[in-house]
Amino acid sequence: MNPVIEALKFRHACKKFDPKKKISRQDLDTILEAAWLSPTSFGMEGWKFLVLASDDIRQTLRPACWDQPQVTDSSHVVVILAQPALIDPSNEYVQNSFLRRKLPEDMTRAYVEKYKSHMEKEVFPRMSAYAWCSKQCYIALANMMTVAASMGIDSCPMEGFEKDRVEALLEIDTGKFEVAVLVAFGYREGDQTLRLRHPVGQMVEFR
Ligand SMILES: Cc1cc2nc3c(=O)[nH]c(=O)nc-3n(C[C@H](O)[C@H](O)[C@H](O)COP(=O)(O)O)c2cc1C
Repeated sequence: MNPVIEALKFRHACKKFDPKKKISRQDLDTILEAAWLSPTSFGMEGWKFLVLASDDIRQTLRPACWDQPQVTDSSHVVVILAQPALIDPSNEYVQNSFLRRKLPEDMTRAYVEKYKSHMEKEVFPRMSAYAWCSKQCYIALANMMTVAASMGIDSCPMEGFEKDRVEALLEIDTGKFEVAVLVAFGYREGDQTLRLRHPVGQMVEFR
């Protein structure tokens, strides 16, 4: 079987983690490398990954996450933060991001203009900068879960949390960062939930 498909078949939203099993630092670094290697629109990297290893912090956080046991029973929780202010077209960070490409000056200027016009005409009329950054965060989320699965590590993505409360508990500087999504990593314990999918033919259309 294709090894990526194999990993995707192993992955499920793990509801029951073994609280005794911890992920090694090496494996955790591999999971975070998958996040780092993930693509972002225009290469803006408007994200940050906050790793919660501490049992105490996760215990404090759990009530703000629908009291989900995954928060405390997993090995680590990664809080994926969006950085909406960073990707604002007026921010110097945007130009500096394009400068990294070491292109001729007029091409860099053209990129900055293209970005500005795309954000103003196509993105911001439809969604907030937070939503746009969060979309990118979810790509990293998926890659992290897949690489974790390829190493026999389970995960549970979590949108079941109170954003304002989580940000307050983690003392997030909300002028810079906002929580996009959480993901717990660890090792499954016992029987897990059934995989439910509508038939693939219902989901795909060729033209
Ligand atoms: C963005 C996102 C947020 C989710 N939030 C939660 C959550 O808060 N708690 C939970 O138990 N499962 C959560 N799930 C898991 C889904 O319920 C699960 O992925 C879906 O039912 C399909 O099951 P499977 O992942 O086991 O194939 C979330 C999934 C995604 C993609």
